[in-house]
Amino acid sequence: MEEVEVAEEERDHWSGRLPFILAAMGSAIGLGNVWRFPYIAYENGGGAFLIPYFIALLTTGIPLMALEFGLGYKFLSGAPKAFSMVDRRLAWVGWLSIFLGFLILSFYTVIMAWALIYMFFSFDSSWGSTPHEIEGFFFNDFLNISSGPTVIGGFQPMIFVGLIVIWICIYLILNKGVQRVGKVVLITVPLPIILLIILFIRGITLPGAMDGIEYYLTPDSSKLGDANVWLAAYGQIFFTLSLAQGVMIAYASYLPKKSEIMNNATIISLANCGTSFFAGLVVFSILGFVQHETGQPIGSGASGPHLAFITYPIAISQMGGASALFGVIFFLMLLTLGIDSAFSMVEALTAGLEDLGWEHEKAVRFFVIIGLSIGLLFVTSVSFWLIHLIDHFAVGIGIVIVGLIEVLVIGYVMKPEELREFINEHSEVKIGYWWDAMIRYVTPIILIFIIVWTLKDGFEFTGESVPNNVVEYPPWLVFAGGYGLIFVLVIAALYMQRRFTEWH
Ligand code: ALA
Repeated sequence: MEEVEVAEEERDHWSGRLPFILAAMGSAIGLGNVWRFPYIAYENGGGAFLIPYFIALLTTGIPLMALEFGLGYKFLSGAPKAFSMVDRRLAWVGWLSIFLGFLILSFYTVIMAWALIYMFFSFDSSWGSTPHEIEGFFFNDFLNISSGPTVIGGFQPMIFVGLIVIWICIYLILNKGVQRVGKVVLITVPLPIILLIILFIRGITLPGAMDGIEYYLTPDSSKLGDANVWLAAYGQIFFTLSLAQGVMIAYASYLPKKSEIMNNATIISLANCGTSFFAGLVVFSILGFVQHETGQPIGSGASGPHLAFITYPIAISQMGGASALFGVIFFLMLLTLGIDSAFSMVEALTAGLEDLGWEHEKAVRFFVIIGLSIGLLFVTSVSFWLIHLIDHFAVGIGIVIVGLIEVLVIGYVMKPEELREFINEHSEVKIGYWWDAMIRYVTPIILIFIIVWTLKDGFEFTGESVPNNVVEYPPWLVFAGGYGLIFVLVIAALYMQRRFTEWH
């Protein structure tokens, strides 16, 4: 491993502990907490899912958060350079993680664009009033969804405008460095939590709410023997904590001298997972209400796009007074939740290029333009299908594989005791040998076991359901868009490793 002397003064840094904690918390708490966690929990055993989820949090989430903070802070660099410092042949691990984050970001920003437009639709319930109208509005009028995943269909100018607005916001927040990020997160982290609390109060006072919550939390322990449930728990932990995407490494690289690591890692991880659990109560109280009012089964409207853009507008249409207000609150919450996760993924990339000598603003501009260009694919009528496919592979298994590579590198190339000593020098609460054991044995063994078990059982990819229809994806598309895309990211990462040899 190479020694590194980095002139800290030259590197941009957070103005204190709070901006760092808020920024990392903001990155973690995102759309995934509201529209991914409750649904994944419900689908994978309800209350019983909390068992694999908390095991994943303890065995992987918190230890890996400390690992990424330690790595970024020790080498004062983004993920590619940090891994290159561990071993000059390993920069590709860092590139792979930030490219994976970028892939996730390419559709994450599109969903934010949808939320932005729906926030404006809330004022006059443009989506209609009956469940049938609301569903038809989303798929036909708004998305103009194509007849299947192989049909690209038309371009949606309104969504493109929304996407431009989102990317401009990302640019304006990031272009002046982390000092400005530190100010923005003072608003974008507490605001959605306050909005979520307002929605919770409204949600649990609605008729049928308790049925929804019971549905959410009733344990189905038979699910615990299913590999896909465990994979879902680990995938969700990586995604929700923004791990294995280079984000936490980049953020920690901007820590000023005498910063704390372990407490921060624990606080951020617990706050994030607590928010997910709480968001589940909000979401399922609303689903219970919708069932009470319309008879729509609770589980059928709980997944991501369905939840936000169909089920929630149906709930609003049934609420009577102040429905526009609750629409605006909900979509503003999604937007403010999403924005700090989105810009953190761009910052992870930016840090990678800055370490190659790029100017910060230029690197941000570069990725904003690339991100917007990739986003063009998601403003066509095929977007809904693609998002389902890419989310399933990138978040479902890609992120777990990248996480596994990370722990293997630290466990066997760098040696965990070396990083632990560094973390302990910068932690109020010291970590013991248990952490080495986690990084070296427990986490990799669990991850390998789950990946092999899942692949053996078949990594389930079901078609996406649209009104009255479950559309199956042709196998070649699942292969190309799923495994193929992960393969392309690996090739791109290896290319970057070969092309840029500055740190060798
Ligand atoms: N961690 C972010 C989320 O959960 C990406 O949405």
